[in-house]
Amino acid sequence: MITQQIKNAIRDIPDFPKPGIVFKDITPILKDPVLCDNIVNAFVEQLKGTRIDVIAGIESRGFLFGLTLATKLGVPFVPIRKAGKLPFTIKQKAYKLEYGTAIIECHTDAFEPGQHILIHDDLLATGGTVTAASELINEMGGVVAGFSFVVELGFLNGRERIAPISDTLVVLAK
Ligand code: PRP
Ligand code: ADE
Repeated sequence: MITQQIKNAIRDIPDFPKPGIVFKDITPILKDPVLCDNIVNAFVEQLKGTRIDVIAGIESRGFLFGLTLATKLGVPFVPIRKAGKLPFTIKQKAYKLEYGTAIIECHTDAFEPGQHILIHDDLLATGGTVTAASELINEMGGVVAGFSFVVELGFLNGRERIAPISDTLVVLAK
């Protein structure tokens, strides 16, 4: 039900941001407050039983549901941002995307060593972004509690790439 609602709402944009890429545009989801609420509730339901001390959301689309989910779970939200955006002391990691390369950063006081961090993003493609985020979190002493995504692009095999990091993977639509 929720899966079909998400799939119906997502808009495919061919050749964005580069020729050959079919971009999954989630902005129509954001215009539907009932669907947004259903998405957050579906995450809460599927994450029951998982220890989550903190949610780390990946810039920028991982912020959209990440903060709402953290607030609903009653845990802190921390942003993992692209290079040069965070004002305090940071740690950083470079990584590859389906359509380029990037650097992500996290504040050094984002969480305490030993805390269990759920990594949240809108979309799982190659898994490069969340793998880099996991490495960053581990280097800072955190434990990756798992991953949550609104949608997965199955043909890019991100699921296989992140499986060794954590068994906990919540994907609402494929
Ligand atoms: C997109 C998406 C994920 C990432 C997934 O973000 O929101 O963060 O790509 O790709 P991967 O699994 O191959 O790493 P993008 O870097 O385009 O940034 P945006 O959210 O700011 O648009
Ligand atoms: N991130 C990586 N690949 C993507 C795609 N095809 N659509 C939207 N976001 C993405």
